Amino acid sequence: MAAIPAVPSLPPAAVPGDLLVRVDTPSLVLDLDAFEANLRAMQDWADRHGVSLRPHGKAHKCPEIARRQLALGARGICCQKVSEALPFVEAGIDDIHISNEVVGPAKLALLAQLARAARISVCVDNAVNLADISAAMVQAQTQIEILVEVDVGQGRCGVADAQTVLALARQAQDLPGVSFGGLQAYHGSVQHVRGHAERAAVAARAAEAAADYAEHLRSAGIVCDRITGAGTGSAEFDAASGVYTELQAGSYAFMDGDYGANDWSGPLAFRNSLFLLTTVMSVPTSDRVIVDAGLKSTTVECGLPRVADQAGLQYAAANDEHGVVRRVATSVAVESPFDAESASGGADTASGDVDLGDTLRLIPSHVDPTFNLHDSLVTYRNGVVEDVWAIAARGLSR
Ligand SMILES: Cc1ncc(COP(=O)(O)O)c(C=O)c1O
Repeated sequence: MAAIPAVPSLPPAAVPGDLLVRVDTPSLVLDLDAFEANLRAMQDWADRHGVSLRPHGKAHKCPEIARRQLALGARGICCQKVSEALPFVEAGIDDIHISNEVVGPAKLALLAQLARAARISVCVDNAVNLADISAAMVQAQTQIEILVEVDVGQGRCGVADAQTVLALARQAQDLPGVSFGGLQAYHGSVQHVRGHAERAAVAARAAEAAADYAEHLRSAGIVCDRITGAGTGSAEFDAASGVYTELQAGSYAFMDGDYGANDWSGPLAFRNSLFLLTTVMSVPTSDRVIVDAGLKSTTVECGLPRVADQAGLQYAAANDEHGVVRRVATSVAVESPFDAESASGGADTASGDVDLGDTLRLIPSHVDPTFNLHDSLVTYRNGVVEDVWAIAARGLSR
């Protein structure tokens, strides 16, 4: 019988020292200079205003990124799902806020196991759920901190009346296995209010609502040490509000097309650090090229990705495995990491031209679900690969 040839194993998309233009695609790539500047900017802003930064791990799902945020001074991290937290705890991160409600016996049993391994807090907006959490913690002989989630305008989860907030806080104080830690007052719809002044005004109303809930608790004798919330779009205002004690922003480390459409004329702004590297795999006509990144590499609920380095190219349609890129009239040379590499392979940004086999950097429109499509992140500086990090919590949405 003829021997069956060995099935090749998939090599990594890149190894340290590779040129960025030689990375196998489609691949998520991270510009370390921009990324590190973003991390410093948010941490400095939190420090200046005397609030904690607890960056959201849901944005990137990558323990190596969380480690760098903690090294700069972050107090801990947030996760949105219990399962998402597991790789972070495994990586040694021991202070995690689950910024979400956790319901059902399987999830509560896992939450209790997590609480045995790390310092965990969780959101609650329901008395029955709070009693279930208490029972799960008692059964596992552990403790968890409860943050009552209040609705400050988003209309998602969260309690919307002060009496219920007070009742839940008292219940958390009374039940075994749980303690009352404070409030979560996250307002997601503020984040992408485009105008800077308009965003400031909506964020101020949310902070005022959070302050009212905390005051109601104070007047009933319950101290509210922790008020957590804030995303990338509202962190500037929330940090300075005098109400929030903790910022949960996540996307600031990367930026994306949706956040790029905000007006960033205030003191806090961020650079694009995350790109989807893609290769031109077909040049069927003079006005159209096809790239190898489509819906399985980037999500489009916030719009199509944008070609980063060439104003003369427009990503026009996403199919499952293909992206249609059109040549458009204006072709403006822009600063590009590919300029550094004469070894070609990167698009020629000066002429606005692009050929078969060239690589392009795309700016994803929404970082969180795009990270969730990839197993690894290729980091680079000055056009040269430094490392490949695992997106270890990718797909963990239970
Ligand atoms: C509860 C919560 N906190 C924080 C964030 C982080 O927001 P961003 O990535 O926009 O900074 C989100 C994002 O959806 C969220 O749902």
